[in-house]
Amino acid sequence: MQKDLDVIWHPCTQMKDHETLPLIPIKSGKGVYLYDFEGNSYIDAVSSWWVNLFGHANPFINEKVKAQIDTLEHVLLAGFTHEPAVQLAHKLVDITPSGLDKVFYVDNGSSAVEAALKMSYHYHLNLGKNKSVFLSLRNSYHGETIGALSVGDVALYKETYKPLLIANKQVPVPLDQSEEAAIEALKILEEILKNDAHEVAALIVEPLVQGAGGMHMYHPRYLVGARALTKAYDVHLIADEIMTGFGRTGRMFACEHADISPDFMTLSKGLTGGYLPLSVVMTSNEIYQAFYCDYNEHKAFLHSHSYTGNPLACAAALATLEIFDTENVLEENKKKQQYIMNEVQKFTLLSNVKEVRQQGMITAIELKGYNVKERIGLRFYQFALSKGVLLRPLGHVIYFMPPYIITYKEIDKMISVAYEGIQSL
Ligand SMILES: Cc1ncc(COP(=O)(O)O)c(C=O)c1O
Repeated sequence: MQKDLDVIWHPCTQMKDHETLPLIPIKSGKGVYLYDFEGNSYIDAVSSWWVNLFGHANPFINEKVKAQIDTLEHVLLAGFTHEPAVQLAHKLVDITPSGLDKVFYVDNGSSAVEAALKMSYHYHLNLGKNKSVFLSLRNSYHGETIGALSVGDVALYKETYKPLLIANKQVPVPLDQSEEAAIEALKILEEILKNDAHEVAALIVEPLVQGAGGMHMYHPRYLVGARALTKAYDVHLIADEIMTGFGRTGRMFACEHADISPDFMTLSKGLTGGYLPLSVVMTSNEIYQAFYCDYNEHKAFLHSHSYTGNPLACAAALATLEIFDTENVLEENKKKQQYIMNEVQKFTLLSNVKEVRQQGMITAIELKGYNVKERIGLRFYQFALSKGVLLRPLGHVIYFMPPYIITYKEIDKMISVAYEGIQSL
């Protein structure tokens, strides 16, 4: 622990907290469990920042990554290609909504968002239009690099860096999961597009669930309307499915709930089953064609990252998608999500619970009556850890986003610890 604190600056952490809050060195992982050096185990109920789908040290994914490492660990993707990248791109084109026919590899979520924003702007430019403003939803989160932060709206991450950010506008997100709220938000979107569409390149959304914004959920009707409006006003729709993709919302991709196809889709996190950093921007042939011409450095998309399309990460992704093909994952998840929803109903009777909501394998419990300074999320986190469950609230929102291989017995433990934790606050 001390050797770590001597040299490592941890993400999303006020390092001084570790004067009193011990770091937890993890020795190994297996299934939903993480094990420390003192023999304690923790159910990873947040899938290690929403990436893990089929458990830690999954034997099947391990085998595929091990086989790949003896074949090719990495090669640049400019001028070269490799089998895992090709296979994975074909697979992604097959399983994503129709019209997403091209795959641009990147290596983490924020960078995929950056690439999508640049592509959208650049597409319009290649067609002779100067559209440099992005619309995004209030309370959204798309990552923490400068471009991604610019289209985000979570003050905790954004406020300090405001002077550095690029031009953008926020539009209302539906206030709750009702269809009426979606329709209300669409009315305002339409007004804004009427006035501003000439300068707007794209609207970027987290479809159905705003993750870091406190697992805020909204109705698919909003996506249907936003798709129609953006098409009508010559504005791209970017679906950031970095968190929602790969079954989290109950369908393989959240866009499927609304039966829409965006102009760009960003994917990462669950893509490799939680093994390795990898992301993609998917787009249409039409957008791809706007960049396709005799060499012209202003028209080509000259964006790159060193680890773009890494073969080990692609092998992990192919193994992950093979599990979806061979096991009845989404059907089994339906039963689990229903079970979780039934079990969490009792939370609504607690006086400090405002609301319980769910979308697929994401279940959130919003608390009421606390102010930010109380740091109740931290207190709850410590309580849950002491009982063997890793739950990391977003402020006053406690949520479950476990790996799909979680058993009913482990679900029971996760829920009972959360219940006790909320009672103890
Ligand atoms: C919707 C969404 N977009 C983008 C990102 C950023 O991804 P990364 O953390 O890999 O940069 C996240 C991360 O939580 C996310 O939830």
